[in-house]
Amino acid sequence: MLRNSIKAFPSSRRALTLSNNGWIKTSASRVGGFGISTNDNTRISNNKNSRVSSQSFSTKASKCPITGGLGRDLSSDASVMLDSNESVDDSAIEVPPTLQTVPSWPIVGIFFQIIPGIGKIAQDYYKVPEMNANNAFEFYSSMYKKYGSFYCAEIPGLGKLHTLTDPNEMLKVLRQEGAYPRGGISNLTPFIKWAQDRKLKLVRGDDNGFFGQGETWRNVRTFMQTDLLSPQAARGYVPGVVEAAQIASKGAKHYSGDLNTYLNYCAFDMFQTIMFGELTKVSDPNTPKDPVNVEFVENSVLSLALLITQIFDKTEVIKGKMGIVTPKYKQFEAAMDVVNRISNEKILAFKEKWESGELTEAEKASYVAHAFERQKSDGAVSAEEMSEIVMFALNAGVDTTSTFISWAMVHLSLNPDIQQKAYEELKHNFDENGGQLSSEMLTKNKAPYLHAILRESHRCTPVHPTVMMKSNSSKDIEINGTSFPQNTLFSFDSFSLGVDPHIVDNPDEFNPDRWTPEATEKRKGTKAAVLDHQFYKDPFSQGARRCPGSRVAVNETLVLLSQLVLDWQFEPTTEINSYKDVKYEQKTLIVPIMPKMNFVARN
Ligand code: HEM
Repeated sequence: MLRNSIKAFPSSRRALTLSNNGWIKTSASRVGGFGISTNDNTRISNNKNSRVSSQSFSTKASKCPITGGLGRDLSSDASVMLDSNESVDDSAIEVPPTLQTVPSWPIVGIFFQIIPGIGKIAQDYYKVPEMNANNAFEFYSSMYKKYGSFYCAEIPGLGKLHTLTDPNEMLKVLRQEGAYPRGGISNLTPFIKWAQDRKLKLVRGDDNGFFGQGETWRNVRTFMQTDLLSPQAARGYVPGVVEAAQIASKGAKHYSGDLNTYLNYCAFDMFQTIMFGELTKVSDPNTPKDPVNVEFVENSVLSLALLITQIFDKTEVIKGKMGIVTPKYKQFEAAMDVVNRISNEKILAFKEKWESGELTEAEKASYVAHAFERQKSDGAVSAEEMSEIVMFALNAGVDTTSTFISWAMVHLSLNPDIQQKAYEELKHNFDENGGQLSSEMLTKNKAPYLHAILRESHRCTPVHPTVMMKSNSSKDIEINGTSFPQNTLFSFDSFSLGVDPHIVDNPDEFNPDRWTPEATEKRKGTKAAVLDHQFYKDPFSQGARRCPGSRVAVNETLVLLSQLVLDWQFEPTTEINSYKDVKYEQKTLIVPIMPKMNFVARN
């Protein structure tokens, strides 16, 4: 019997409850007649095995005030009303959360506001939450409050996107990804255009190569993740990352007023040790900076921010579809050209050293040195493809990692007690390890509190609420009792449940103790246990297309945070009561605007 449950569909006044797995429970006599909108072309399942029959649903629609066409009747919106005291009798049967359809119009989808004038009227009428560059967390939370844990929205450039919060349902999608799954990078259309215009091998063929779902992706992906993704490979790079982080940490005070730039420099320096075995020291104020490295960091951050904002900017998407080259695209193109040029120069210089046997020991142990050897010995990818893979990785390795670190640093700075507790754990391990950071002392077993801090940071402020967008590439699928044809798009919202006060106590409080083994054990069998599912744990997506840089990015994050906490006590220079007061903006990911901080040296 379910003790904790979630009450839904207040307008229907029926006692519906959401079980631990996200399915709504209701007593059999109550099944008929609650409202669901089915004004998309989704097929409601009549399958006998389905846990609820299509007869249970009725369709309600209302006329749009402007077009007179059918829109969604908002009076029956499934704003899921959460009630932790509700319980269900034993005769209850499970019915899934019903698919809610977000009102939309052709071309603009749910983004009415981009139509001058009437867009605002439609927006006010339908009350669809508005998304902009500075409200991703609030936007997804509002969508969840308004449309519940399973809704379909028409997104320009993507089509119908079905968002869900139940990891077990999302797992079903992953299981039907097939051998050639869809990747999030297939949405990066401006990047694909840029690469095609420059005839990059990485995007060759009808299917956009690495960005598609064919043999090229499989080949390139296999080549790319070798020497990068396995725990053993990632561990091998830690000594170089530690060296870079020790130097970088010394620069923190110098950059106290511009920590966003500083953390980008730190991520670049750490990643260069992995890729080339080189200590670039861009984050070190006492070493003259190589202007080429600074130029690379600036253009890497700029190119990806412009890339993502073009995708989120619905007018850009529509213009892109019409073949219009916008000023934003031109800016992105110019920044990408710089990234590409500098990457090629770096790879060429490294290749000359490699060919003439002049690599240092650190360089020989680097990812790129191994990649040259593999490329030469098995030829699985061409030399050009290999260079392009390295360029792509170099570009992906700067502000993704720095964003992940930034949020954790924000939380540590706002919570001196937590910072102190982390220091004590790390200092103990550090002394025990002879005064040296190592991969062994940063494991979850040895540094559980540090890992809990990262997990809590991901709960409160993930780098993005939805990092997993998948499709059932192999065959039709039934999700939450509804059948969908092959190649339907699903997105997993891994944020909204974790900040739902009916799932988590004091959700606005940053509290790493939520993730101790004891707390996890205590949650078992309650509705909050869902947050311990693998899909809620980190921001790298899942399945065969899970981020190939995930392991090295986590290691970089653990190392730099540890070094900063060991070296400094840091806090904002002005009082900030909550992380919710820290503003953020959509760049490649959701980046906090780092507050100015005071750094006081430890020791
Ligand atoms: C904290 C830092 C990072 C985060 C949060 C992150 C996140 C992600 C996510 C969510 C995806 C999409 C996965 C999917 O399609 O399901 C992805 C893909 C990818 N990431 Fe990362 N990433 C990070 C760092 C890196 C680094 C350091 C590299 C450098 C190697 C990298 C390279 C890539 C590549 C090449 C893909 C495309 C993989 C494919 O489509 O098969 N990422 N990343």
